[in-house]
Amino acid sequence: MAPHELLLIPGPSPVVPRVLDALAKPTVSHVGPDMVHDLEEACENLKKIVFSEGGQPFIVAGAGTLSMEMAVVNTAGPSDRVLVLSQGYFGDRMAQVCRAFGYDHDVLSSEWGRAVTPSELQARLEAGSYDIVACTHVDTSTGACAPVEDYGRVLAKTGALFVVDGVCATGGIAERMDAWGIDVVLTAAQKCLGAPPGLALLVLSETAMEKRRRLPAIPAYYADLLRWLPVMRDPSKYFSTPCVNEMRAFAEATRIVLEEGLEARFRRHALHAAALRAGLGALGFRLFTDPGFLASTLSVVRYPEGVDDRAFRARLAENGVVVAGGLASTAGQVFRVGHMGNLAPADVRFAVEAVERTLAGLGRPVEPGAAGKAVDGVLGA
Ligand SMILES: Cc1ncc(COP(=O)(O)O)c(C=O)c1O
Repeated sequence: MAPHELLLIPGPSPVVPRVLDALAKPTVSHVGPDMVHDLEEACENLKKIVFSEGGQPFIVAGAGTLSMEMAVVNTAGPSDRVLVLSQGYFGDRMAQVCRAFGYDHDVLSSEWGRAVTPSELQARLEAGSYDIVACTHVDTSTGACAPVEDYGRVLAKTGALFVVDGVCATGGIAERMDAWGIDVVLTAAQKCLGAPPGLALLVLSETAMEKRRRLPAIPAYYADLLRWLPVMRDPSKYFSTPCVNEMRAFAEATRIVLEEGLEARFRRHALHAAALRAGLGALGFRLFTDPGFLASTLSVVRYPEGVDDRAFRARLAENGVVVAGGLASTAGQVFRVGHMGNLAPADVRFAVEAVERTLAGLGRPVEPGAAGKAVDGVLGA
């Protein structure tokens, strides 16, 4: 990315020119051959991205919250019990979705900055049985990554459907649907996948699809996956006009993901996270997130005593980098930096140098060049 104003909020992430060019192509018929080709390819690619052999992908205009809602209403029956594992703001949102539709649900929460541990999940499952267990892979409010693979191992001993919110992880951190026993990955286009915002994405396992078929009626119309299924199988069919340009841009974004290679992409996200944290550490910053739960897709960074959130972020934006503030009780205490999608090493270095200039501008003591050196030490530059 040309670092003019580098968008490093934890989503949307910067959109590279190849994807923007796809977005700018003339609008075509939503049931015509170009769209059919791109939607078919995007569906296939989405399955590959979440390591699903026989899963059913869905790509629908909306955003992550719609995919959360679709995941719940298409898998939970009226007498089902749902367990929501929450490690922050978006886990709590999942509980709100359950509440909005009147599902019987419990919430097992962790302290912010950590995630529910597999043994805590195990203990809860021994105390009561659930039909659906939903977790947030990475909660964007805290930067904590849940041990999804371990949850899957615990849940394999139960009959519960396993739903994973991958909005802040899919395409940046491994989500091996088949191997980990995940039944639903719900996600969105605008973070690690590097597409513009505007799509709700889901992949359902065969078991989750069977469950949907067994439900007599669900409290949804547009969000009913059975209405979308014919379109996903044959995009020349119509249910509701899809956002053609956005979907074609998303198809291009998935091509970029697969061209890079998933494992290489996961490693790059981890490398960028380590480099950014080394640079910020050299500037005296400390992370909010427990070191045992750090996600490689964003960093939630505590302000040192005396640094004002608004002044810091405004000046950082003047220095070319846009980051986000804290959510809920962390507002004013932390800033959140996304390092996901199609960032280059130079973007990470630029961001850290911009933070250094910002601190200096705010009259804080900094050792010039130390942060860039720490970044280079990790990136091997
Ligand atoms: C983990 C997680 N889940 C769900 C959402 C909701 O997604 P959206 O804002 O696209 O509705 C977000 C948004 O940041 C998120 O980070």
